Amino acid sequence: MRTYLVTGGAGFIGSNYIHYMFKKYDNEIRIINVDVLTYAGNLENLKDIEDRENYTFVKADICDKEAISKIFAENDIDRVVHFAAESHVDRSIKHPEVFVQTNVLGTAVMLNCAKAAWELPDGTFKEGKKFLHVSTDEVYGSLPDDKNAFFYETSPYEPHSPYSASKASSDMLVKAYMDTYKFPANITNCSNNYGPYQFPEKLIPLIINNALQGKKLPVYGDGKNVRDWLFVEDHAKAIDMVQEQGRLFETYNVGGHNEKQNIEIINIIIDTLQEMLPADDPRRALVSKDLITYVEDRKGHDRRYAIAPDKIKAEIGWYPETDFATGIKKTIAWFFEHEDWMKNVTSGDYQKYYDDMYANK
Ligand code: NAD
Ligand code: DAU
Repeated sequence: MRTYLVTGGAGFIGSNYIHYMFKKYDNEIRIINVDVLTYAGNLENLKDIEDRENYTFVKADICDKEAISKIFAENDIDRVVHFAAESHVDRSIKHPEVFVQTNVLGTAVMLNCAKAAWELPDGTFKEGKKFLHVSTDEVYGSLPDDKNAFFYETSPYEPHSPYSASKASSDMLVKAYMDTYKFPANITNCSNNYGPYQFPEKLIPLIINNALQGKKLPVYGDGKNVRDWLFVEDHAKAIDMVQEQGRLFETYNVGGHNEKQNIEIINIIIDTLQEMLPADDPRRALVSKDLITYVEDRKGHDRRYAIAPDKIKAEIGWYPETDFATGIKKTIAWFFEHEDWMKNVTSGDYQKYYDDMYANK
């Protein structure tokens, strides 16, 4: 039975990945989820799997070398899937140091502890061990408004925000470990994800949440920045496929070929909400395009992201299965069914509940 050490598994993509993995492998794998539970980590995301015998949650900081080494010492870890990070660009503009601490130092600790646990006396590594570093397309910087320009694995790194600079630094550390020690790793650089459990500071859940309450829908700058949106389950699938079928030491770009301007996304969300809300639902009267409000642009705002997922498709056969029209309906349906989740994360109550539940554990 393969044992996975997943970092940041209580966050948006990490929790979707854990659900995906148990759906796919059921009792054939064991998952240890290490998460320090920042504002973005929410154990409610994992409620339906928390009692599984092949699942363990450990509340720990990836920067805490002692805690991470202990997990490696007590468990024969076969796979590391490293999601844990500070992930929101706007927060990084206000608090850059936290991003360096978690994203750079935390990755260094994860690499160091995995290397110490997996390295043999002759400097090679135990058979079959693998580390996957989950990264972002933002490390490549910004593309011009040209439909034929894409990010490739060979594109130069040109990060602009403290977030993307910290992720670029963490990628460079992983690359250095692969080059220097032949450390068995892969990197995935993925485009913008959306789907269930996404924290409502990010564009799509923020717009859904605000629109349903008749609150303003803030559009940064001219609203014409382009992002390449991928349904989160397709990302989870890509990570698993890269780890099991990809060539070690390689980077794979993951993207949906689904580029849309922010203002298009907002209009689609409003149209879809109006289509999906029952005729007698009082929120129908609140959801309106009049809520769209242009606000000051994000500092250093990248203009356009677009991934060329050619390599992962050609080598591994991965492709995005969920188109945007289907994915956004699934996402909105999930938010309709999980009103309490949204209320909890916006009120902060969930944080207290889980702090109490896991106190001294
Ligand atoms: P998220 O902010 O929703 O979740 C991050 C998780 O990491 C949280 O559970 C948080 O508690 C945990 N965490 C933060 N600091 C930690 C620490 N010091 N120790 C242990 N745990 C810690 O993020 P996400 O959107 O799920 O992103 C996950 C990963 O995927 C990140 O590495 C991000 O850079 C990358 N990524 C995200 C996207 C996207 O669109 N969201 C796209 C590409 C890549
Ligand atoms: O590209 C992958 C990245 O996607 C990930 O690495 C990051 O972790 C993730 O947060 C995301 O970064 P973005 O900055 O692209 O996502 P965000 O949802 O914050 O913003 C998407 C676009 O929408 C961006 O152009 C800024 C704009 N925006 C965002 C918010 C929150 C608005 O216009 N209004 C808003 O209120």
